[in-house]
Amino acid sequence: MRILVTGGAGFIGSHLVRRLLSEGHNPVVNLDALRYSGNLENLADVAHDPRYAFVHGDICDAGTVERVLKEHNIDSVVNCAAETHVDRSILEPNSFARTDVVGTAVLLEEVRKAKVARFLQVSTDEVYGSVEHGWSKEDDTLAPRSPYSASKAGADLLVLSYWATYKFPVLITRGSNTYGPNQYPEKFIPLFITNAIDDQLLPLYGDGRYRRDWLSVHDHCRAIEHVLRYGAPGNVYNIGGGNEQENITVAEMILKHLGKSMELIRFVEDRPGHDRRYAVDWSRLRLLGWSPRVRFEEGLCTTVDWYRTHESWWRKIKAGEFRAYYEEVYRKRLEEAG
Ligand code: TYD
Repeated sequence: MRILVTGGAGFIGSHLVRRLLSEGHNPVVNLDALRYSGNLENLADVAHDPRYAFVHGDICDAGTVERVLKEHNIDSVVNCAAETHVDRSILEPNSFARTDVVGTAVLLEEVRKAKVARFLQVSTDEVYGSVEHGWSKEDDTLAPRSPYSASKAGADLLVLSYWATYKFPVLITRGSNTYGPNQYPEKFIPLFITNAIDDQLLPLYGDGRYRRDWLSVHDHCRAIEHVLRYGAPGNVYNIGGGNEQENITVAEMILKHLGKSMELIRFVEDRPGHDRRYAVDWSRLRLLGWSPRVRFEEGLCTTVDWYRTHESWWRKIKAGEFRAYYEEVYRKRLEEAG
């Protein structure tokens, strides 16, 4: 396929670009605005691959999207461009509405006009809201509770409207919490790993008993590629990892693997509107022929080792943009926790 990946310099996007190239797709074009979490270092290994092209631009800019689709004769688009962090969405909700909702709306119109053959929206299990029991199915009512998940849910509804209204061949994947190398250290797992390496406190929200189903970024990207090839247009596919864990258990596993003291864990003031649990039923995707391969214990250790051996990657980030954000979100919480 001739694929455009938006947000290809981000965490999931960069792993997806690499995966698509390794699967033989040609070209793989990456359109990325390079905002705070977009980082071309994530793709340094493929930067000179003749099948890969990078375009600096924003999905909200219709002219740029139109030009890229035309210039590269794109037939399939995967939208990974998004603001994705719940805590940031509490601080600045409007940037989420802009990138996640308006950006998706602009993209959809351009891909429809260009008559691309497939459009895949990378979404999240957070659109179902908190599920205390059971597993969310693709047709469940959406009940997002943060500006982030509400923006993603809005985008999902827009995407589905293009199938209902125009029979435009859209697909949606809703992945569970994803982890792996190159994840920006605002997220739980890389924040805890990098803090622990530096013997800094690990700020665990609330009682630490919130539950997430952890999905390796490699399994996640394999699922996206699988849905892009084999998914039925108009359909949503949940992607789960089969690795449901309480946050405190994950924190302990990280500390254990690093040989650090459990005393580094600090229970801090909870995130407002914190969803207790996410869990998806991914039997639809299993029927399509995909299942996860990476065991969490293994994937987590590999991820910890990646951060251990790529200090220059994350130290630059933590000393830069991330610093002021960390102060704002965590300093008071940690001071109050003593
Ligand atoms: P996160 O990576 O922000 O993903 P999401 O909230 O979108 O699932 O957080 C994962 C879990 O970890 C979530 O329950 C919140 C919790 N968490 C902490 O306890 N401390 C932290 O510093 C962060 C970033 C998250």
